Amino acid sequence: MKVVAGASSQRLSKELAGALGADLVNMERKTFPDGEVYVRLADSLRGEHAVLVSTTYPQNALVELLLLEEAAHSQGASEISVVVPYYAYSRQDRVFQEGEVVSAKAIAELLEIKADRFITVDPHKEHILGFFGIEAHGVSAVPLLAKHLGSHGVDTVLAPDKGALDRAQFAAKCLGAEFDYMEKTRLSGTEVVMKAKRLDVKGKTVAIVDDIISTGGTIATAAAELKRQGAKRVVAACTHGLFLGGALERLRAAGCDEVVCTDTIETPVSHVGAAEVIADVFRERA
Ligand code: R5P
Repeated sequence: MKVVAGASSQRLSKELAGALGADLVNMERKTFPDGEVYVRLADSLRGEHAVLVSTTYPQNALVELLLLEEAAHSQGASEISVVVPYYAYSRQDRVFQEGEVVSAKAIAELLEIKADRFITVDPHKEHILGFFGIEAHGVSAVPLLAKHLGSHGVDTVLAPDKGALDRAQFAAKCLGAEFDYMEKTRLSGTEVVMKAKRLDVKGKTVAIVDDIISTGGTIATAAAELKRQGAKRVVAACTHGLFLGGALERLRAAGCDEVVCTDTIETPVSHVGAAEVIADVFRERA
């Protein structure tokens, strides 16, 4: 087995190779002046099980992954596993409005062409795995995230909205903590109040758990409310930290005492490594 590290997943690839006792493939990569991606594998993959690791964000990483699949295939790899720690494009998982594209399906159909297996971490919705015509696994980093939250004194877990309920409930269960979700009540045309549905957060160390933090808007609004309602500490936690447009600063300004995510996207607050839960898929097959 050999692990090929995509540019967007360098740290995770190294840890995955370590966990699997596999070699990391040496490679050359560059970007042409027009933005085109170039890759060259310096080690042969002939007859090897090639494990290609690349989050599909930003867009160039998706193109690089497709090139790596072609490289592994044309070099004669015996098996190709594609590990996409954060599967970008998965949020468009159905047609919400007539004429839209189910992006999660369109990208799945590209990724599966040269691959035997697809593995991702905390997919936005489980049913996106069904878009792949090959073996597809969704593993969860929530127990690892929960362990981190436990060691940081979190006693209450909140979902920022109903959509994040299952994931946050799972984190609370792993942690043995109280659980609730935030509910929005519109007071007037311009006034909205967000409150934990059942629990009183006064004096509590609360973690708000979601799968993705993008602009940070959802969690920032929730955090500010929780602080106003007397929470002692607020931790913003997610699997995939996109943190776009100054989201980290926005979260801190809103009252988040800590922000944490996994390394499915490599950020300054990726304090939780997801390699072990990915490695388990390969260990279970061995
Ligand atoms: C939504 O579908 C996701 O689960 C997150 O709730 C969303 O991406 C968060 O976005 P933002 O950080 O921009 O509020």
